[in-house]
Amino acid sequence: MTKTVLSADAERQLLSDHVDLRIAAVEEGAADRNAIVELDPDHPGFRDAAYRARRNQIAQLALSYKPGEPIPDAPYTAEEHEVWRTIWNALKPAHQTFACAEYLAALERLRFEPDRIPQLRKVNERVHAISGFRLEPVAGLVQPRVFLENLAGGVFLCTQYIRHHSTPLYTPEPDVVHEIVGHGVTLASSRLAELNRLFGEAVKMTADSDALKRLSRVYWFTIEFGVLLEDGKVKAYGTGLLSSAGELAEMHKAELRSFDLDAASRQEYDPTHFQPILFCANSFDRMYQTLREYLTRWKAA
Ligand SMILES: [Fe+2]
Repeated sequence: MTKTVLSADAERQLLSDHVDLRIAAVEEGAADRNAIVELDPDHPGFRDAAYRARRNQIAQLALSYKPGEPIPDAPYTAEEHEVWRTIWNALKPAHQTFACAEYLAALERLRFEPDRIPQLRKVNERVHAISGFRLEPVAGLVQPRVFLENLAGGVFLCTQYIRHHSTPLYTPEPDVVHEIVGHGVTLASSRLAELNRLFGEAVKMTADSDALKRLSRVYWFTIEFGVLLEDGKVKAYGTGLLSSAGELAEMHKAELRSFDLDAASRQEYDPTHFQPILFCANSFDRMYQTLREYLTRWKAA
């Protein structure tokens, strides 16, 4: 069997396409849902004037968006659709091997095309019909509290830009691939959508910043990086895993801990590496029941 040897650059690419900074950077992010992402000088798209103009154009769509109206389509280029195709080609087989059954069933319902970036408008229509959740475009990254509290009202704040075409397997910020392939699909499962709502409700009841940090960690180790057992095999239900072929391929190297949410709430993590520790439930049903009870108890406390 041949072993693929990755260059340092390729490894960096695979390491960085799963991170959801809204949860990882608790102290950063913008309080205002209309904040625009400023590209750092080391961003892959920094020197591409056409990409930056398109990012601004997509941000403008979000700024002028009125909740409840149809989401305007983003002007993706042929190059960007090609980025989607590359990612999809890597993710499709990875999903068949590593995604849990609940996710695969939800994925079927959304019927993505292999060579076109799905438009939020279409994904939103399908998700809303299934779980009542609405995807709403935002210009950039918002603070965890803003992002999580919106879940309580069945609203998922969603970026619409796609990563730069020069690095199809790397993005320094959550893009439309993470949003749609990760969160959009899981919100097309009524049980996972319910857990998202409960997270939002729990955050709304949480004024203390240490408590918010604990709750954010539980979100990280479940909604973002959750795994469970199916027929004795480890399968993913976390959006950070399911939107990254690299992360899925490395999942088996993680130390699996029992599904103890108090322990998860105390567990630090490093978003810049593959996750070395994952909390694994014995089944989807067990994960759903345990997390549901935990969040319900949190609200009542
Ligand atoms: Fe995420």
